[in-house]
Amino acid sequence: MYFDSHAHYNDERFNGDRETLLPALYEQHQVTCIMNVGYDLESSRQAVMLARKYPFVYASAGIHPHDAESIQEGDYACIEELLREDKVKAIGETGLDYHYDNSPRQLQKQAFDNHLRLAEKWNMPVIIHERDATWDVLDLLKTYHGEGVFHCFSGSVETAKQVLDMGLYLSFAGPVTFKNARRQQETAAYVPKDRFLIETDCPYMAPEPFRGRRNDSSFVYLMAEKIARLKGISKEEAAALSMANAKRLFRIE
Ligand code: NI
Repeated sequence: MYFDSHAHYNDERFNGDRETLLPALYEQHQVTCIMNVGYDLESSRQAVMLARKYPFVYASAGIHPHDAESIQEGDYACIEELLREDKVKAIGETGLDYHYDNSPRQLQKQAFDNHLRLAEKWNMPVIIHERDATWDVLDLLKTYHGEGVFHCFSGSVETAKQVLDMGLYLSFAGPVTFKNARRQQETAAYVPKDRFLIETDCPYMAPEPFRGRRNDSSFVYLMAEKIARLKGISKEEAAALSMANAKRLFRIE
């Protein structure tokens, strides 16, 4: 059984088959838990609606760093309204993205900091997106006293050590399966058994051998297989460990 710790079934690429795909993931693909992640207000609301509809789907609420520039006064109050829902288990995704720089960096930092303060206030884990911004993300996290996960982690063992020292989890997505991904694979081999999650980040980031296709949670087993090989454990153990870790982090019974 698998916990896909980062998926976006609120994405329009699932508009055509969401209602058949989600039950099939549970019934045919052993995907028994999904964290459906919000990336703006509308997608966070959709994540909550999906979580209400499907018992095995949970939700997060937050605004992606890409959209930091468009955050309005009052948006954080709307997020807090969603956090009251039983099945909203995390805040995010939030963080910094200096690869695309879709929003000015200063506004990204402000938005990330605001999400961290919400996570502390609501005592909820935060889902962190970081791209080409490791130093600034780690710097802002120095003031954070809470839990969380770096999603789609692609950093080195050195960076992983700093993240783990903060008590945070690392989540591995499709890139860990790519042939040239030596750095991610070294980190996945290194991460302690009680601190890693697996995810698809669907519809993006399809793993080998499905790169370029629309991704979905039926491929999450490929991350379990890859990490199992890197750690010298069975696929079942990797799946069970990542399931237990995700449930602990998101406080799911
Ligand atoms: Ni995402």
